[in-house]
Amino acid sequence: MRVLLTGGAGYIGSHTALLLLQRGFDVIIYDSFLNSSSKVINSIEFYLNSKQINYKLKTIVGDIRNKDCLDKVFKDSINEANPIKSVIHFAGLKSVSQSVDNPLQYWDVNVCGTKNLLEVMSLNNCFSLVFSSSATVYGPSELVPIKENSSCRPENPYGNTKLTVETILNDLFLSKSNVWSISILRYFNPVSAHPSGLIGEDPRGIPDNLFPYITQVAIGRINTLNVYGDDWNTRDGSGIRDYIHIIDLAEGHIAALNYLKSNKFTYEIINLGSNNGYSVFEIINEFHRITGYKVNYKVVKRRSGDISISIADISKANKLLGWSPTRNLKDMCLDGLNWQIKNPNGYC
Ligand code: NAD
Ligand code: UD1
Repeated sequence: MRVLLTGGAGYIGSHTALLLLQRGFDVIIYDSFLNSSSKVINSIEFYLNSKQINYKLKTIVGDIRNKDCLDKVFKDSINEANPIKSVIHFAGLKSVSQSVDNPLQYWDVNVCGTKNLLEVMSLNNCFSLVFSSSATVYGPSELVPIKENSSCRPENPYGNTKLTVETILNDLFLSKSNVWSISILRYFNPVSAHPSGLIGEDPRGIPDNLFPYITQVAIGRINTLNVYGDDWNTRDGSGIRDYIHIIDLAEGHIAALNYLKSNKFTYEIINLGSNNGYSVFEIINEFHRITGYKVNYKVVKRRSGDISISIADISKANKLLGWSPTRNLKDMCLDGLNWQIKNPNGYC
């Protein structure tokens, strides 16, 4: 089955692409490479060749805002008698702070880009979509673990764009019965890397997120981790999050694709997390205990836009998709560090 991965060269897309190719899916990666490196494609191919796996992978450099370019990808596939059956839509911008500084750019890529994609899919009779949403749409939540039907109050432009796309997808689904099959995945905190150390997270510049920051401090690329506040209303005063191993997350996408294949004409919103919450201090201490690498840190004031606690209720993913994560914090620390040691400067 041929699947199009917009943003398939990015952090989550590349791990999902590798797993899909290993499982025999025919994959097209469509990416502008705005926030990724073409070297990730070489790494995916290197891994598959090293395992003597036959695979079908095409990479197309393109922007989701370029309708003609997108349309050509679908038309070419039809002409090859191998039409795209489903799309996993990863492409987008994801920095909360950048979205505050430049909201129009976020609305343009995340919302207008998605509208383009949906129009091109309709034109080419492809109506199966898995969309990358985010736990950010919930905003601050009093009740954890968070269920999919909890209220959504995103607190930044990035979160607003994700919730808007969810609304567009719901409108689209309701507009024509028996046409669209849509799965919206709300990721909690994806971390770590493929155990081979060949692909992983490669943030540009100083990382925004905790995990890549910790692995970069561990190998000495950055001196000190700033812990954003020890005065949160949590068990040790630092923020609590639900971290999920990137391979478990990638598996969740395959489960969602398979679900759409056997359950047509659905619109489902599904949390993907681990249902475990760890505080920043717990992560620092566990990382040291598990890997032997000490993480220097200092406590600084809270980061604007942060929340105290976020943990997923993943019972829906378990029930609907038959999916639950199998990797624990030890795997996350070891695989993340392995990637960082083997690639101290990312894909450079
Ligand atoms: P990423 O930045 O690594 O990957 C996104 C990919 O999209 C990149 O390869 C980038 O080059 C590409 N891209 C950006 N704009 C594009 C455009 N206009 N046209 C074509 N390609 C474009 O991010 P990621 O962490 O892999 O995230 C993937 C998706 O998941 C994003 O939509 C993100 O908002 C969402 N998400 C990520 C996280 C996370 O923690 N990483 C959490 C929740 C949701
Ligand atoms: C952040 C984004 C969120 C996005 C998610 C995954 C913000 C406000 N939120 O969420 O929208 O979906 O990333 O991309 O940017 N921390 C430190 N020091 C650091 C980095 C983080 O103490 O250098 C703390 C944070 O305060 C938080 C925890 O570590 O308590 C996790 O932070 P992070 O990895 O950035 O994820 P989120 O805050 O959940």
